[in-house]
Amino acid sequence: MSFLGLGSSHAVYWRTSSIQEVLIEDKSLTWRSLSGIIDLYFYSGPTIHDAISQFVTSIGTPALPPYWALGYHQSRWGYGTVGELNEVVHKFKEANIPLETIWSDIDYMENHRDFTIDRFRFPEAEFTRFLQTLHYNGHHYIPIVDTGVYAPQNGDENYPVYFDGLADDVYLKNPDGSVYIGEVWPGPSAFPDFFANSTKDWWTKALKDWYRDVQFDGIWLDKNEPTSHCMGSCGKPPTGEPTDEYLETIEGRGDVNHPPYVINNIRDEGCDLAAHYVAPNATHQDGSLEFDLHNLYGYSESKVTYESLLDIFPGKRPFVLSRSTHTGSGKYSVHWGGDNESKWSYLQFSISQAFSFGLFGIPFFGADICGFSGNAEEEMCSRWMQLGAFFPFYRNHNTVGTIHQEPYCWESVAEATRNATSIRYSLLSYYYTLLAYANLKDGLPVMRALSWVFPGDASLFGIDSQFFIGDALLITPVLEPNTDKVEALFPGIDAGEVYYDWYTMKKVSGEPRQALDAPLGHIPIHIRGGNIIPVHVPGYTTRETKENPIKLIVALDENNFAEGSLFWDDGESLDTKDSMFYKYRAEGGSLFVQSSQDEGYLAPTIDMIYVLGGPNRFKEIDFTANRDQFFMGVISLY
Ligand code: GLC
Repeated sequence: MSFLGLGSSHAVYWRTSSIQEVLIEDKSLTWRSLSGIIDLYFYSGPTIHDAISQFVTSIGTPALPPYWALGYHQSRWGYGTVGELNEVVHKFKEANIPLETIWSDIDYMENHRDFTIDRFRFPEAEFTRFLQTLHYNGHHYIPIVDTGVYAPQNGDENYPVYFDGLADDVYLKNPDGSVYIGEVWPGPSAFPDFFANSTKDWWTKALKDWYRDVQFDGIWLDKNEPTSHCMGSCGKPPTGEPTDEYLETIEGRGDVNHPPYVINNIRDEGCDLAAHYVAPNATHQDGSLEFDLHNLYGYSESKVTYESLLDIFPGKRPFVLSRSTHTGSGKYSVHWGGDNESKWSYLQFSISQAFSFGLFGIPFFGADICGFSGNAEEEMCSRWMQLGAFFPFYRNHNTVGTIHQEPYCWESVAEATRNATSIRYSLLSYYYTLLAYANLKDGLPVMRALSWVFPGDASLFGIDSQFFIGDALLITPVLEPNTDKVEALFPGIDAGEVYYDWYTMKKVSGEPRQALDAPLGHIPIHIRGGNIIPVHVPGYTTRETKENPIKLIVALDENNFAEGSLFWDDGESLDTKDSMFYKYRAEGGSLFVQSSQDEGYLAPTIDMIYVLGGPNRFKEIDFTANRDQFFMGVISLY
């Protein structure tokens, strides 16, 4: 996939799932593939947003996540007991830092086996009560489910999930027809073939049965490249001869684990493509080689899990987080930039990562905030919690054995998080509206590079230290230590673009490049004139926030014009027919409010309008006294 151009853009998509490498050299870009077809799609633009929209709508627009998924997520590898999970939830409350969802990594499992619970550390009554209270208070719970399914080798162990799968013939096989056994966290592990129909039924049943014990709200899919920690079918090396079917499949292809050209496989100096992942010679139920399907494994698992969740929660939008994705995955899962490090360089890198996933049609992206491996340091974590607050997916996650990095661990980080989170929560419906547009209309990313919003400006090409949320909010995070200033670009300000400071609501004057004050705990945010943004008073949870009245920020441009919209529904139904799009337009001193249909989910009333710019420079119009009267129509702004 490539997007090229400045001013006028186009996109080229090579539709392939085969093993590839991309060589970026001084003056050339080379794509190499070890097999497959060359199907090229061209998207003509002419703007970068047109090209992205053409591409994403052709592969399938991203699923709209449930509203609650926009809340703050806390995770850690190492929350070892239900008591510890409970303590984390309470510490957030004590520190008055909004927490929406608490996650469990593999710690809850019995010997790292999927669909089990370690009852010693997560006793039934205590765990059930914990989840009930969590849900009662408007929180959510997401556990990890790994791809490698423990495969007992002694024959006498009771792990029905594996044996049911064996009976249904769901696992990848070796060339001799035996089950492929690699190694993941539980030890010897088999890998479900998510392309097979029998797998879907087995997986759905396993999730459904398990849901009776663990009332989860979404599923976190990990290790689904699929990863294996050993070389080949190490758990039980095949002893038999290859089957006739296998020989037929590889006819003319030779040893698929060691093809004549092996790409620059960083995982293994010996150039074995089986290193670190399930080997290319593993076969699927229909005889296909993992060599050809490897890159689709995560996609297939996400799709099946999405459908399984629909079975468990009929009519409700599933929430699936997946480590491995492919073109089109956005229809079923969201993605995180995982296994990063607690370093400033990873904090910086997360912005361009988010841009990439926006281009791929997965706008709901976030990195492991404060870093996965290594010990987080206070100043970095403070800046990262503030930066992460403006990514669509806002989750702090950390590896086992490192120091704790929940935002309440340092008072400065707690304070910085409270500040940024209260802004994020006030903007939840704005983010949700952008995601609804992506899903129902244009497929556009939520986090946007400056050069996408101002495609004609060559000076913005390559800027990944700032970003827009939609076209209306400009975020300028601090990405370096030991500074209380940050350099900001205000694109087009010298040609009539208008920007307002989020905190003071005052118009910015001056040059496009400016040094802004950014002491620890403060993240500069600017509203671009020409936009109307719906906000709420932030609550402790997304549920509380969503019930609060709407306030409109009407940020006028140099012609005293502004427009915006609000998507409104119950926040969870898959069927969006009762949803509403409210359109706002400020022109000639009046605000026009319209809705897409007369009946459906009605948004809360507008109780306040802030007018930025125009003859008064700043004006507050207060409707709190007669809230019920104003829904739609025209209102005078000045
Ligand atoms: C993988 C995941 C990471 C998780 C760990 C343990 O490394 O990427 O997020 O914490 O496995 O399950």
